[in-house]
Amino acid sequence: MNKIKVAIVGNGSICRFHADAYRKLDCVEIVAACDINEERAKQFAEEYGVPRVFTDYREMLKMEEIQAVSVTTWNNAHAEVSIAALKAGKDVLCEKPLSMNAAEAQKMVETAKETGHLLMVGFVRRFGENAQVLKEFIDKGELGNIYYAKVSYIRRWGNPGGWFSDKKRSGGGPLIDLGVHIIDLAYYMGGKPKAVSVFGAAFSHLGMKPELKGVTKYYSADYSEHNDVEDCTVAMVRFDSGMTVFFEASWVQNIKKDELVIQLYGTKGGVQLEPTLEFYETKNNYMVNTTPVLDKASFTMEDGFAKEVGHFVDCVRGQAACINPCEDGLELMKIVDAIYESSKTGHEVVVQ
Ligand SMILES: NC(=O)c1ccc[n+]([C@@H]2O[C@H](COP(=O)([O-])OP(=O)(O)OC[C@H]3O[C@@H](n4cnc5c(N)ncnc54)[C@H](O)[C@@H]3O)[C@@H](O)[C@H]2O)c1
Repeated sequence: MNKIKVAIVGNGSICRFHADAYRKLDCVEIVAACDINEERAKQFAEEYGVPRVFTDYREMLKMEEIQAVSVTTWNNAHAEVSIAALKAGKDVLCEKPLSMNAAEAQKMVETAKETGHLLMVGFVRRFGENAQVLKEFIDKGELGNIYYAKVSYIRRWGNPGGWFSDKKRSGGGPLIDLGVHIIDLAYYMGGKPKAVSVFGAAFSHLGMKPELKGVTKYYSADYSEHNDVEDCTVAMVRFDSGMTVFFEASWVQNIKKDELVIQLYGTKGGVQLEPTLEFYETKNNYMVNTTPVLDKASFTMEDGFAKEVGHFVDCVRGQAACINPCEDGLELMKIVDAIYESSKTGHEVVVQ
């Protein structure tokens, strides 16, 4: 069997989840690694037995045998690397957020169309077992019409620093980092309706709090304390299906504990996806809660990435239609832009 030859650009933390997932697939070979930090690229290549190392993705893309590329760089390189890879004839799996803003995402979508190559966005949470089971239930009409969703991903002390908190490399704070995952879950489960308007507020009152003691947190690979992004963002997003999503995300907030909560409400029933999958309805005039019996009732990174990367490879081999097309990444960037815009103006923003 001819193996699919894959390259990974950006060899930091999330690269390893992609690489572990590729390694599980007999039909894939990782042939090149690229990072502007040469030491990091070399170390990754050595650990994973990757034969070629680059510091310039343009040089790497000259390798004709590369068929597919994972883009796992800082957010500010997603658009330029993905566009160059598509133009070089490669299929691309680009990490979330698709880009820094909707204008960049639009160019990425246009390039995918022009070149005819696949650009998949890494909304990995769609691939959690709990999410896949919920989608199956929704597709069978178990919730009825979903009219409201509440999505919350809040951390008390969780600004990773480094590029994450540097707006010119990240595009923003918890909204663009955590928010895109959970707004996307509501969008995807709600049947991908079109966002029509947004009211949002982003707060920057608390800062990174690097001086805090007594607990540990995740520090980005190139940690620094430069911080010009928001601490916390809240929004209401209305969709043309009639669904409204209430959203909040924080990196720093005075709350009791970190929480991830995803709840959807339909005309026939409600559901909680995270922390664990549970359904709520009425039956025979009783209120009934149902808990599916699952190996993984909550999202796990290993399982999610294995399924996401597996699906990407199936698409590259022409064996599946892409569940996460780049157009979905663009829709999310339009919502992100509108939330930041609404926060600036203090008014509701119409999403184009
Ligand atoms: N899907 C998820 O659950 C999830 C989780 C965390 C991060 N991410 C996304 O993955 C991406 C990377 O995050 P991370 O935590 O791995 O960051 P990281 O800092 O650990 O790794 C990013 C790497 O990209 C490299 N890089 C930056 N610009 C580059 C360029 N132009 N060419 C080559 N290399 C370049 C950096 O040197 C760094 O080594 C981000 O877009 C982030 O939003 C996704």
